[in-house]
Amino acid sequence: MFLAYPCLHAVLLAIITTVIAEQKCDPVGKEGNESPKELALLKRLEQLKGLSFNITDNVGENEQYVYTFRMCQEVFSNMSNSGLVQFNKQMNKWTVVGRINETHIVGGSKWIILTYKGGDSYNNHCGNEKRKAIIMITCNRNTLSSGFTIVTEEREKEEDCSYVFEFESKLACPLEESHLSIGSILLITFASLVAVYIIGGFLYQRLVVGAKGMEQFPHLVFWQDLGNLVADGCDFLCRSRPQNVPAAYRGVGDDQLGEESEERDDHLLPM
Ligand SMILES: *[C@@H]1O[C@H](CO)[C@@H](O)[C@H](O)[C@H]1NC(C)=O
Repeated sequence: MFLAYPCLHAVLLAIITTVIAEQKCDPVGKEGNESPKELALLKRLEQLKGLSFNITDNVGENEQYVYTFRMCQEVFSNMSNSGLVQFNKQMNKWTVVGRINETHIVGGSKWIILTYKGGDSYNNHCGNEKRKAIIMITCNRNTLSSGFTIVTEEREKEEDCSYVFEFESKLACPLEESHLSIGSILLITFASLVAVYIIGGFLYQRLVVGAKGMEQFPHLVFWQDLGNLVADGCDFLCRSRPQNVPAAYRGVGDDQLGEESEERDDHLLPM
């Protein structure tokens, strides 16, 4: 009973994997022998997978074609591996232009070209070869996908004809290298915060409190105290001279001076 669950699980997983395996762009070669470059480019377009695009091409008054392109998935499951299909409105006829199981892909600095080969064969053109769709994706950092359109249908060649499409996507853009390391970003942030603190504090002290001179500096007393503390700490840590300086230097004056100044201050206090 308990063993049945892992078994069922494995079977389901196998079924799901098979279904998913069919539903993807398959470059030339058996699994493991495919081009790493093509696989890397397909991975880069992963975000677009399954998206579908439509464009109507009005060739003449009586000729209208609707093209449907799907990124690395079948357009229709009843048209096996269909990646780009054409619908002829007048003839009410479907034609597969390219198939996802015959995917080719190349990329440059600001573009990626996806090709689906293995479409339905031409009847009277291009040496009756199989159709193919070429989809050029150009870099546009503002969109994941937009502007899908047909560029041309080339069928006047003796061979190697094609249907050419294009659209824009940020995925075709060069990967932006961050010129700033995390350290420098932190440093810049910190410096900006310090600047805001000083300028803001300065304005507050000057305009709201009405301070003048050095007192315009925000939290002046705190920072002076901190400076003194740091100096003391440094004194304690860094000086090599022993703390117990000969009595002649400290002694007599210090305490008396302190007391004296306090006494002097007392005179200033309002009675
Ligand atoms: C791709 O799929 C089509 C339709 O299922 C099939 O006829 C064709 O042989 C396949 N191509 C490859 C290279 O497997």
